[in-house]
Amino acid sequence: MTAVSEHPSRTVEHPLLEFDNVGKSYGNVQALRGVNLTVRQGEVTCVLGDNGAGKSTLIKIMAGLHDYTEGEMKLNGIERRFGSPRLAQAAGIATVYQDLALAPLMSVWRNFFLANEIRTGPLRMLDIEAMKSICGEELRKMGIEIPDLERPVGRLSGGQRQVIAIARAIYFGAKVVILDEPTAALGVKQSGVVLKYIVKARDAGLGVIFITHNPHHAFLVGNHFIILKLGRVVLDAHRSELTLDQLTAEMAGGQELAELSHELGGIDAGKVVAPHEVRHGGVGAPELDDSADGSADGSADGQPKGTA
Ligand SMILES: Nc1ncnc2c1ncn2[C@@H]1O[C@H](COP(=O)(O)OP(=O)(O)OP(=O)(O)O)[C@@H](O)[C@H]1O
Ligand SMILES: [Mg+2]
Repeated sequence: MTAVSEHPSRTVEHPLLEFDNVGKSYGNVQALRGVNLTVRQGEVTCVLGDNGAGKSTLIKIMAGLHDYTEGEMKLNGIERRFGSPRLAQAAGIATVYQDLALAPLMSVWRNFFLANEIRTGPLRMLDIEAMKSICGEELRKMGIEIPDLERPVGRLSGGQRQVIAIARAIYFGAKVVILDEPTAALGVKQSGVVLKYIVKARDAGLGVIFITHNPHHAFLVGNHFIILKLGRVVLDAHRSELTLDQLTAEMAGGQELAELSHELGGIDAGKVVAPHEVRHGGVGAPELDDSADGSADGSADGQPKGTA
């Protein structure tokens, strides 16, 4: 499905970022093939998939770390190949890597301005006061409580670090922010903090790409869901076309589990296959029909497509 038809009011706009039949091989390894996807402003696009599915490869292409070998990547409708991460950043694509988001020994404000320092006077000295004041102001705007901006970032929680990296990306004018498994190493509460700022980044008008293994986290914040499997897109659906149950089943490999259960002769079928995994058509279904039951998970079942 093309997202354009889902958003009649936005048909004139180009999507922020678009993949058209993108493939990537590392020598003999075909890490991505025929990938189509669209990242829109003011939406959270969740990319899900198992280990080795190609998620990191996908974001490395967007972030300028790797080039693609087939197809086209377009930014604001124009084909682009970023030769380096710096060029991707200059084009407004910010990537928050799970562990490398910030420099642990440096203070909060220093991290905030890392590589973008404000300088002043003929000697181009660091304008520490200005940087601290802006950093404090920006974090406050995002509702982030960091009492001491001098504190080394390594002594903050994982969730706080992610959030600072998101605030920094927004302040420095990112159009697209990519979060690589930001909640993978976090507990429930800290994950909640990060999810909250994912929504803030979206509401600030960014296109957010949220890479995760966790369908529950994805469904809490996502507008649009893509599942990769062995380098291919096996599901691409808008929130209004999907329930959390279906997303979970797709992630769990509903079809494979059903087949496995069959192979096991039904001995453990009740344990192996949850009812919703059988009910739904499994991977490869590009379009989810409306036969899904209206489970009370907040999904917009029954809502006509195009009224997202
Ligand atoms: N630099 C590389 N050279 C060769 N093969 C690679 C390279 N990077 C990734 N691959 C291969 O490409 C495929 C996709 O890997 P990728 O890291 O994109 O998956 P992923 O979805 O991010 O997995 P994970 O959830 O484990 O991080 C895998 O088969 C992987 O072995
Ligand atoms: Mg990865």
